[in-house]
Amino acid sequence: MKLVTIIGARPQIIKAAALSRAIRNHYADQIQEVIVHTGQHYDDNMSQVFFDELQIPRPDYNLHVGSASHGVQTARMTEGIEALLIKEQPDFIVLYGDTNSTLAGAVAAAKIHVPIVHIEAGLRSFNKSMPEEINRIVCDHCSTLLFTPTKAGLENLKREGFSIDEGGVSTGSTTAVPTIDNPKVYHCGDIMYDNSLHFADIAEEKTDIIQRLGLTGKPFILSTIHRDSNTDQPERLSAIFKALIQLSKECQVVLPLHPRTAKLLKTNLDEDLQKQIFSSPNIKLIPPVSFLEMIALERHAQLVMTDSGGVQKEAYFFKKPGIILRPETEWVEIVETGNAILADADEGRIMQAWQHFKNNPPTIFPEIFGDGHAAEFMLEQMLLTNTRK
Ligand code: UD1
Ligand code: UDP
Repeated sequence: MKLVTIIGARPQIIKAAALSRAIRNHYADQIQEVIVHTGQHYDDNMSQVFFDELQIPRPDYNLHVGSASHGVQTARMTEGIEALLIKEQPDFIVLYGDTNSTLAGAVAAAKIHVPIVHIEAGLRSFNKSMPEEINRIVCDHCSTLLFTPTKAGLENLKREGFSIDEGGVSTGSTTAVPTIDNPKVYHCGDIMYDNSLHFADIAEEKTDIIQRLGLTGKPFILSTIHRDSNTDQPERLSAIFKALIQLSKECQVVLPLHPRTAKLLKTNLDEDLQKQIFSSPNIKLIPPVSFLEMIALERHAQLVMTDSGGVQKEAYFFKKPGIILRPETEWVEIVETGNAILADADEGRIMQAWQHFKNNPPTIFPEIFGDGHAAEFMLEQMLLTNTRK
């Protein structure tokens, strides 16, 4: 079986590590994977570092698309992916998540009848002003095999008309071959959970970021901010940073800065706020870190404050309370179990959430993200349903 895997943005490169590892360890004689990097993320610390650290095979192709407006970026990727699909003739294209690289892969593949595997299917924010919401809806509705990480994802797909049997495990007609018009949905756990389990101890052994940042034995908050809805709106970005300044009076704050945020801090925060942030000894603004460094930080943090999808989940994996800097989340279970609070970009709500978790640190984190073997399950299903055996 031949797969073409599309990656482009940081979280997709990390997710791809789990599938590539499972192929290498269990299916090397049955599955060939061709990796296509769209070039959506290109700085070494947003891309190359993960290949070096997570043993991901070098991409077979890099489209070097780079940054541009949504339309231009997606169009360039679509054009490049279409040409490679025609050349490679894979059995499936594998798409992760909800970025513009995902959307481009979905549009290119669906039109030339390459079956799509969507990993992280069914997630919804119910907020169509998010570019990711559009990308994930389009991708799900162009897919042949949909792997959903959570029950909420399964329910969302049911509501959108995917036929799902009572067991909620798989669907479509069980006898007919799955196709774009007869898709099959599987609830199988989260591929990022596979990675966090696999790399947690390796991170402890191989990184010294806690010592390097002078955080040994010290409580700290880990924060990441990169959503366009936060970075591009000065009043929202200011509210978040005002809260960070308040929090830094109580404990250290570590903030690996996404390049988007690094650029917009300078234009979207007023000078006085910038001065306070850059001069605070308790706010550590650092460049993006590697995945092993990131999970070491998540493991040692007292609390995680983020607008990232991946980081809010990893906080949960490592049993840390989360403050989500968004009005809603696709990972509703984290909030429903009381382990994260939606504080939006609201200084008052952020401080309230902090007080809440200081007084009531959560202790129960139900297993809602699978068993750490989602990648193997997905590959099994691809082999079973592949028609060109
Ligand atoms: C993208 C995804 C988002 C995902 C995030 C993960 C879309 C629409 N958005 O957002 O869903 O959560 O990746 O990190 O696909 N830049 C650099 N160097 C890089 C990459 C980006 O400087 O290597 C800067 C550029 O100024 C660029 C900006 O960051 O314009 C935004 O990059 P882009 O890939 O368009 O979107 P992200 O905000 O990274
Ligand atoms: N991450 C990382 N270094 C960083 C920040 C994040 O390795 O400096 C990892 C993080 O552990 C998670 C993934 O990147 O696995 C999340 O990506 P991001 O926040 O960029 O995007 P999202 O998940 O919101 O799409």
